[in-house]
Amino acid sequence: MNTAELTKTARMLMAPGKGLLAMDESNPTCNRRFAALNIPQTPEMRRIYRELIVTTPGLGDSISGAILFDETIRQKISNGAPFADALHQAGIIPGIKVDLGTGELAGFPGEKITQGLDGLTERVREYSRMGARFAKWRAVLAIADGIPTPGGMDANAHALARYAAVCQDAGLVPIVEPEVLMDGNHSLEHCREVTEQVLRTVFHQLHAQRVRLEGLILKPNMVLAGANCSEQPDVDQVADATVTCLLRAVPAAVPGVAFLSGGQPAEPASARLNAMNVRWAPRMPWALTFSFSRAIQQPALEIWSGRAAKGNAARQALLHRARCNSAARQGRYSLDMERSVC
Ligand code: 13P
Repeated sequence: MNTAELTKTARMLMAPGKGLLAMDESNPTCNRRFAALNIPQTPEMRRIYRELIVTTPGLGDSISGAILFDETIRQKISNGAPFADALHQAGIIPGIKVDLGTGELAGFPGEKITQGLDGLTERVREYSRMGARFAKWRAVLAIADGIPTPGGMDANAHALARYAAVCQDAGLVPIVEPEVLMDGNHSLEHCREVTEQVLRTVFHQLHAQRVRLEGLILKPNMVLAGANCSEQPDVDQVADATVTCLLRAVPAAVPGVAFLSGGQPAEPASARLNAMNVRWAPRMPWALTFSFSRAIQQPALEIWSGRAAKGNAARQALLHRARCNSAARQGRYSLDMERSVC
């Protein structure tokens, strides 16, 4: 393992003013989002949409790395360049989702386990040959009565740690993503407690599996009240609960934290990230940025809706969200930015 190389890549992913773009929706997830907009759910339409994203001029000014799905890393853009090469040319580091989705966790009703450890070494080596420099694995933890259990958290954290060790061995920086879902009516405080426990469990397993903290990125959820909770916190309350939780559970050796958006609308996601950086920057030992999928892509996807004539307008919307989140990563976002939309 080349720790210096891993550390360098992780730092480049956390470059000042930049964050990650998750464009690694699995085919079923991508198809679900296409179906909602009456976009044909074919490999070619998925390719065209992802080409629109990676060929957006100026995207590399706000985006340090983009996470691809297996189908996409094997596809090419119209000029014949593989997607990973097109990203490199745009100044964006290519990454790859390597988990194979979730299944039921046997013995733990209502809990899930992420699959994909079998054959992971070979898959990761192949992705590395294709140009990927980092990887992503998502564990999913729901909040419900008695859930998540210690057994469910242990199993998911162990899988995340084994994945991270395999990636580092192959020279890829692992993005470690334990997502506590926002579905439910739980309070902000309950989400903070669960997220803190999950993160403690993950870092315990990362240590046990000899993962180098300097060569990974953490991709957590923001601490939010459940989507159906009657008492919704304001932006500053979310910022304070989230950073307090991270400070208690994430070692300072980790170079960066890059949030998933988890179904938050685009503007609150930017505002919350901004508030964290405004209120806490001097006290945080890690870079704090974004690794959004929906909160960057959704407005552009809706504008495009499969229509070639809307390509440029969709690119403008994508760039706008990338710039808003770049500003939020620096504590410089404001609602005025939303009014000055192209
Ligand atoms: P969202 O930002 O849409 O939650 O997606 C991020 C991601 O990578 C989920 O695995």
